[in-house]
Amino acid sequence: MIEKNQFKALVLGDIHENVNELQEIFKKKFSLNNPFDFIFCTGDFLNLENDKKDKIVTEEQIKKGEEQISEMVDILKKYSNKVFYVPGNHDPISIYENSEKIKHPQEIKNIHGKVEKIAPKLFIAGIGGSVDAYDKSGLLWNGFPYKDEQKLKSDLENLEKLIEENSDGFDTQVIILSHTGPFGVGTTISWRNEKNGPIQGGSLVLHEWLESVRNNAKFEVLCNLHGHVHHGRGTSLFHNITTVNPGAIYKKQAALLNFSIHETSKKWTINSFEFCGDFFRF
Ligand SMILES: [Fe+2]
Ligand SMILES: [Fe+2]
Repeated sequence: MIEKNQFKALVLGDIHENVNELQEIFKKKFSLNNPFDFIFCTGDFLNLENDKKDKIVTEEQIKKGEEQISEMVDILKKYSNKVFYVPGNHDPISIYENSEKIKHPQEIKNIHGKVEKIAPKLFIAGIGGSVDAYDKSGLLWNGFPYKDEQKLKSDLENLEKLIEENSDGFDTQVIILSHTGPFGVGTTISWRNEKNGPIQGGSLVLHEWLESVRNNAKFEVLCNLHGHVHHGRGTSLFHNITTVNPGAIYKKQAALLNFSIHETSKKWTINSFEFCGDFFRF
């Protein structure tokens, strides 16, 4: 936890095994001498075909995948005092089932299904994974590990209870770090095929949950940092919740956010965004 009233964070995700590009971005753009207070990683470190019905992901692939993730977060750790991540739909099932399956140094944490205080009155809560995505032609991408949204619903209810238990009172705020974002916002929509209309990659259950927790007396959601829909890079406003999708590492995309406590409201706000990367590469 930091004791300052401002901090800087780097948000990135959808690495998809592009380790060279990940290293290149850091070497060119960021400095070891000026580390981020936090790096928030939105998942999809790997390319495991968990979502393909005709493919089986073997135990060997899972084990190798755990080692690859460990190497990638070690790169991130060089540039930050604290790294939080959630798994994506192309990451091993083992790290959903046991978020401590990969042993990390204390600066790194898989926050899937967990909550942690990161600053005064500010927490981070994580939920990895994806749900089915559709366009006008029908189902396009199978969700993983959420084959239907009911399991996601119960995981979000559990997360809500955990946040409530940890809450510091009504002025507690929470950053939701997830792999996919809420259905129907700009950062979860991908426009790729004129005929079939937009791909909706967001979760309806997450959408409804974010709406329902607006009435929670014990906390307020400040923002939802997510990835998954690579073309949805940018920011959007969902009610009073800011969504941020940093884009994908293979396009050398990431987002730098500065957070601070607002002078008047005394609440945490995101006071600047910088989206870096190769915006026109698809
Ligand atoms: Fe991805
Ligand atoms: Fe994904």
